Amino acid sequence: MVYIHAHPMRIIPVCFFCGFCFLPLPAQRSVPVRVQASRIMEHLSALSQYGKNPEGGVSRVAYTDADLQGREYAMQLMRDAGLEVSTDAAANIIGFRQGSDPSLKPLLVGSHIDSVPHGGNYDGDVGSLSAIEVAETLAEQHIALRHPFEVVIFENEEGGTVGSHAMSAGLEDKLLNSVSASGKTVRDGIRFLGGDPDKLHQGQRQPGSIAVYLELHIEQGGILEQEKVDIGVVEGIVGILHSDVTITGFANHAGTTPMPQRHDALLSAARFIERVNQIVTEVPGRQVGTVGWIKVHPGAYNVIPGVVTLGLELRDLDRGKILEMYNRLRSESDQIGRMNGTQFSFTDPIIVEPALTSSDMQKLIGSVAKDLGFTTKTMPSGAGHDAQEIARIGPSGMIFVPSINGISHAPKEFSRPDDIERGANVLLQTVLRFDAGR
Ligand code: GLV
Ligand code: MN
Ligand code: MN
Repeated sequence: MVYIHAHPMRIIPVCFFCGFCFLPLPAQRSVPVRVQASRIMEHLSALSQYGKNPEGGVSRVAYTDADLQGREYAMQLMRDAGLEVSTDAAANIIGFRQGSDPSLKPLLVGSHIDSVPHGGNYDGDVGSLSAIEVAETLAEQHIALRHPFEVVIFENEEGGTVGSHAMSAGLEDKLLNSVSASGKTVRDGIRFLGGDPDKLHQGQRQPGSIAVYLELHIEQGGILEQEKVDIGVVEGIVGILHSDVTITGFANHAGTTPMPQRHDALLSAARFIERVNQIVTEVPGRQVGTVGWIKVHPGAYNVIPGVVTLGLELRDLDRGKILEMYNRLRSESDQIGRMNGTQFSFTDPIIVEPALTSSDMQKLIGSVAKDLGFTTKTMPSGAGHDAQEIARIGPSGMIFVPSINGISHAPKEFSRPDDIERGANVLLQTVLRFDAGR
């Protein structure tokens, strides 16, 4: 018996002799196609060794040795799953499987395996390893898809969806020259991973060139767990603005300089941080704003801070709202600076565009999940994802599974194996149903 044809819920056995008729088979039992959850969990645990940190999570920051090692491991898993593995000029990893109809556009499934510093073992990893598991299941069950199939592990998602941006929109010099969390510029980092930043156009894909992109991810918030819902169907992914703010005052003796004569850059920073919180919370909505890092110079008990730099981040589903908050903060910073004779300057903001997922994909994911007996909730994503970049070139769909206690970007990030299994089976069945055109 051979299996030639994928049906969404079962493998259809066909005659070994002619490959077409269904008649001579004594056992016409239908076998539901399911992922092997234990294999995903084993792979998650093995991947977590690369960049393992003492708090129980990982620091597998893009462009570091740990990133390189994690990528090697993932590439081996892809080869074991029968995928033809290559990297594009931006160093995205691509595992390819032929489709039976080469005239069709490719069906992409993926995520990322880089992490934030002191991150957890689930963000990106669950989606990447489940995408590989889908490929492994297809290979094991001898299921041929009509579409060419690609598992993509995007590079440097945490540094601003760099790899998926390169694939969809291309990378500008401003971004290539920016310094990533590894300490390397993005340009040098791409080279470090074996890509070629001078040939990025070769890996860029045109709008309309893919059939669909699907990504499974942990929710990274606590809504699904609180509401006891199995699967989140993502309706849209927030846009993200980053800008470095420098506040220049005057460093002077902390004992001899009277309070009215100080130009304390850290005091201005404190007032600015408070304004970020007020401006973001003044209007209704789900917008968020954060100052996530701060550097104080020279940084001593007895010196008034002369220069402060800090990282401003703003997020919302509406680009206009993000820019409105940013412009307001910029204009108010002049006033804050004037209060104690300090000056604010902002780097040109880097913006990851917000994106809506395809409504057809939302419907498909929702109905697949319901057919599998899972409860669903349609929800926005407050975290950034590669899917928002790939949405520029084709329909995208995202599946969320619960994050326990809503913790993410931290070592205590955790999703239950049963939830991961549900998510991976929704991913598999969505691939099969999309491929079959249902
Ligand atoms: C990516 O995880 C982000 O939302 O920053
Ligand atoms: Mn992620
Ligand atoms: Mn993340």
